[in-house]
Amino acid sequence: MKVLFLLSFLTPLATAIWPLPVSVETGNTVLWIAEDVTVKWAGTGASDVRSTRCLSRCSGSYLTGLFDSVLMIFLQPYKRSKVRSFKDTTPSGDELVDHALQQTWKTIFKQSFVPWKFRPKGWKEPDSNDCTYVAGIELNLLKDDPENVAKPLAGEVDESYALSLTEDGQATVSANSSVGLIRGLNTFTQLFFAHSQGGAYTQLAPIEIFDAPKFQHRGINLDVSRNWFSVKDIKRTIDAVAYNKMNRFHLHITDSQSWPLEIPALPDLAQKGAYRPDLTYSPTQFRDIQYHAALQGVELITEIDMPGHTSSIWYSDPDLIAAFNIQPDWNTYAAEPPSGTLKLNSSKVADFLETLFNDLLPRVLPYTSYFHTGGDEVNKMAYTLDDTVKSSDPAVLQPLMQKFLDRNHDQVRSLGLTPIVWEEMLLDWNLTLGNDVIVQSWQSDEAVASIVEKGHKALVGNYHFWYLDCGKGQWLDFDPSVSSQYYPYEDYCAPFHNWRLIYSYDPLSGVSEDKQHLVVGGEAHMWAEQTDPVNLDRMVWPRGSAAAEVLWSGAKDAEGQNRSQIEASPRLSEFRERLVAKGIGAEPIQMIYCLQNGTQCQLGLS
Ligand SMILES: *[C@@H]1O[C@H](CO)[C@@H](O)[C@H](O)[C@H]1NC(C)=O
Ligand SMILES: *[C@@H]1O[C@H](CO)[C@@H](O)[C@H](O)[C@H]1NC(C)=O
Ligand SMILES: *[C@@H]1O[C@H](CO)[C@@H](O)[C@H](O)[C@H]1NC(C)=O
Ligand SMILES: *[C@@H]1O[C@H](CO)[C@@H](O)[C@H](O)[C@H]1NC(C)=O
Ligand SMILES: *[C@@H]1O[C@H](CO)[C@@H](O)[C@H](O)[C@H]1NC(C)=O
Repeated sequence: MKVLFLLSFLTPLATAIWPLPVSVETGNTVLWIAEDVTVKWAGTGASDVRSTRCLSRCSGSYLTGLFDSVLMIFLQPYKRSKVRSFKDTTPSGDELVDHALQQTWKTIFKQSFVPWKFRPKGWKEPDSNDCTYVAGIELNLLKDDPENVAKPLAGEVDESYALSLTEDGQATVSANSSVGLIRGLNTFTQLFFAHSQGGAYTQLAPIEIFDAPKFQHRGINLDVSRNWFSVKDIKRTIDAVAYNKMNRFHLHITDSQSWPLEIPALPDLAQKGAYRPDLTYSPTQFRDIQYHAALQGVELITEIDMPGHTSSIWYSDPDLIAAFNIQPDWNTYAAEPPSGTLKLNSSKVADFLETLFNDLLPRVLPYTSYFHTGGDEVNKMAYTLDDTVKSSDPAVLQPLMQKFLDRNHDQVRSLGLTPIVWEEMLLDWNLTLGNDVIVQSWQSDEAVASIVEKGHKALVGNYHFWYLDCGKGQWLDFDPSVSSQYYPYEDYCAPFHNWRLIYSYDPLSGVSEDKQHLVVGGEAHMWAEQTDPVNLDRMVWPRGSAAAEVLWSGAKDAEGQNRSQIEASPRLSEFRERLVAKGIGAEPIQMIYCLQNGTQCQLGLS
């Protein structure tokens, strides 16, 4: 007993890096880090002078024009650098790393926390006298960045990194791309805690980490049509996405309920289709959001869902929409009110989409390689009310849908982007898709298996696991005549998907081994019928983090076993504190009692 007791106090503290790296080795030496710690960083153009010794201390000067020599820069001045305005060009690898250094400083010194919740009662913080400091941080870019480092197709950028921190305080982050460097700096911030007397320290030196993501596409999808979200809310969500080492942010930016995206060539669209004429995203704001994501190694993918989910177009262009807002039996024609769909055999619709894409797609091109053309939940009955078709017969509709999709995808490609569609276009409508198209699944593991069997790349996000909106209960109001039928008013995808359920999902389950390479990743989805800026953070975080770890680290551990909640839970709690310290209102997942003395809240023993 005595030995066990002693051991539990001598066991070195575990790292709590989220998502879990491929390999981590740590010690238990305390190292402090000073606000003016130097960073040795050569910039991305410096491959031929990588071994050059540092020539001068260029106190905080921004890297522009100095890429031909290895620089020693202070981390500290990053706190003073102004918020740089966005550009309308793809950010370079240097800009990514520069931004990441600013974030690193801010995270370690301004957005940290004292980890008392994760230490036994009576725990003493490390002594701040007579301490060793991190001597410097060296960043090594091992290969030249590909041109599209900030907007790659899946798999085009290597996000792996190696991080080491020696006992005497030399930190090194090495990576094959600038994105790898910023993922490594992210991990670096997670090694440090705030001290209640000021300053920041790690208790884990020496540290050796190697890390690489399991999946290439790791994202959150946010619906900003059902409820209104400000630019600030969206940017905060992107910051959290990036801190979770996710690399995609899918913006479901229009739907039947509102059209908040301004399209200068079609000014009435948002003017009339938004909830209020001022609740829109201007071209400047839209660029700002996309640049904000790209700068953090997060590719923002815009979705204009069609031909269903488009009723908001009716307010500006009633001619283009069939079956608009049929009441009270809207549910014959759509999944949600207001019903309505783009007409399927209309040259006016084709002209409209031509104009829309020509306006919008060049504005997403600097920041992404993808454009999402939607295609979910198209209701065939709506076409009985479409004067260009007047039929719900699949044999009539299918060729028209193929033509509709081909027109859209041809234009997407001609404007330099790769299409993404929802699974129904392939699996329910039996459409022929280009080999380049990524098919986003949401309904089942069988759907994922069918997509890859047909040779397409797939994104997972099974709604039984990765829909963050589920389990809140119905948002529909029931008439007394039917109310008892729906009691107790659960929604279609109840119960609430807690983080454990999200964490238990394996993107590869049901996919044969020879097809697994086609599962490029997945997304957790925040549909916003019952979410607005007030509860956004707690609806997405830290449950979205559970999906982030599955996508980065894989659903199975090194032994091929399902990852353990017992191992993950305290790490997720600690990561949640980091999110909160960054101003993201992530929910707690346990009470402090469960955390203070190891795992106190376990049920079942193995
Ligand atoms: C970089 O690429 C090399 C070879 O392509 C690979 O062995 C290594 O794991 C990659 N990542 C890092 C961080 O070195
Ligand atoms: C589609 O429109 C064309 C031209 O208006 C018409 O000739 C054709 O019959 C329509 N197709 C269907 C299935 O209604
Ligand atoms: C797609 O194929 C399935 C199975 O053959 C069929 O049931 C379905 O009606 C087809 N869908 C359309 C729109 O043609
Ligand atoms: C591992 O997780 C899968 C779900 O992805 C589940 O079906 C399976 O039963 C789990 N295996 C064990 C041993 O718990
Ligand atoms: C801390 O946890 C250990 C192991 O579960 C247990 O034996 C000990 O009683 C706990 N201490 C307190 C103060 O709860």
